[in-house]
Amino acid sequence: MLVTGAGGLLGGAVCEALAPTREVWAGAHHAAAPPGFPAVAIDLERPETLAAALQASRAAVVLHCAALADADACERDPARARALNVDASAALADACARAGARLALISTDLVFGPEIGLPPRDEACPARALSVYAATKLEAERIALRTPGNAAFRVALVTGRGHGPRGSASEGLAWALRAGRPLRLFRDQFRTPVDPVSLARLLSAWAASAHDGLFHAGGPERVSRLELGHRVATVLGLPMAGLEAVDQDDTLAPAVRPREAAMDSGRATRLLGYVPEPLDAAIRAGRTAPPTA
Ligand SMILES: NC(=O)c1ccc[n+]([C@@H]2O[C@H](COP(=O)([O-])OP(=O)(O)OC[C@H]3O[C@@H](n4cnc5c(N)ncnc54)[C@H](OP(=O)(O)O)[C@@H]3O)[C@@H](O)[C@H]2O)c1
Repeated sequence: MLVTGAGGLLGGAVCEALAPTREVWAGAHHAAAPPGFPAVAIDLERPETLAAALQASRAAVVLHCAALADADACERDPARARALNVDASAALADACARAGARLALISTDLVFGPEIGLPPRDEACPARALSVYAATKLEAERIALRTPGNAAFRVALVTGRGHGPRGSASEGLAWALRAGRPLRLFRDQFRTPVDPVSLARLLSAWAASAHDGLFHAGGPERVSRLELGHRVATVLGLPMAGLEAVDQDDTLAPAVRPREAAMDSGRATRLLGYVPEPLDAAIRAGRTAPPTA
């Protein structure tokens, strides 16, 4: 397997989780991938590096985690978002098709409309792009899924043990609470957080199967960002006095997020045996402090 974005929060953690059972190549850019993996340089803005990485690794499967994953950065620079999330995904899909490799595009749960209180969405529910980030991810999904055998995984908010200096959602909360930093958390944004180990198991099961198409990949519980903060504090025994409840409309974030992004991952469970880790276990697996440089 070749993992792009192997120096990132999710890609690095997925590499580590796959290592015991899979031969993994790390496709890294500036940030370092976890140690111990054969590495290839990948620059999404230089398509020739994608083909070269496939050739060097001779990968049968590519897990495409690299992206401009910051929704606000995408909103501020739509051209860059398009180049990294759409054009590079198209170039990678082409390179995979030419090399006979299957592609798993990592997409996002932020691809739904503004409605709140709906039951968790499955893959048949209509998607809607409220942000540039969501629009680029939806387009990348369509491009990846043009080739039979490929898949797109809509990954929920990443919690648990991440890789690199940025914490996963639960790590970031834990690090702030431990440091006594106040946090303003949305009471009206609902997600189904999921951890990299569960995702790695799912991606591995997909790679061993002949299934393709769109998969939702969320965790077992629907929580608001505020509830996640309370949960992290409770599970790790940290003070929750610094947690302040806010509404999404109270913030000036450039990118609009759906209030209801909870996903039903039943298709992955039925076809690929997907059973994500309980939320509390994912929270406990997080790193206790940011890594030192
Ligand atoms: N984190 C979440 O909660 C979450 C939720 C849903 C979906 N996702 C999706 O999961 C994937 C990984 O996200 P993440 O949270 O791990 O983000 P991240 O930590 O920012 O990782 C993004 C990765 O993309 C790489 N990258 C960026 N520009 C590149 C370029 N020009 N050439 C090559 N590589 C480049 C980065 O490498 P450098 O840093 O070295 O440039 C990094 O390794 C993304 O597709 C994201 O949309 C994430």
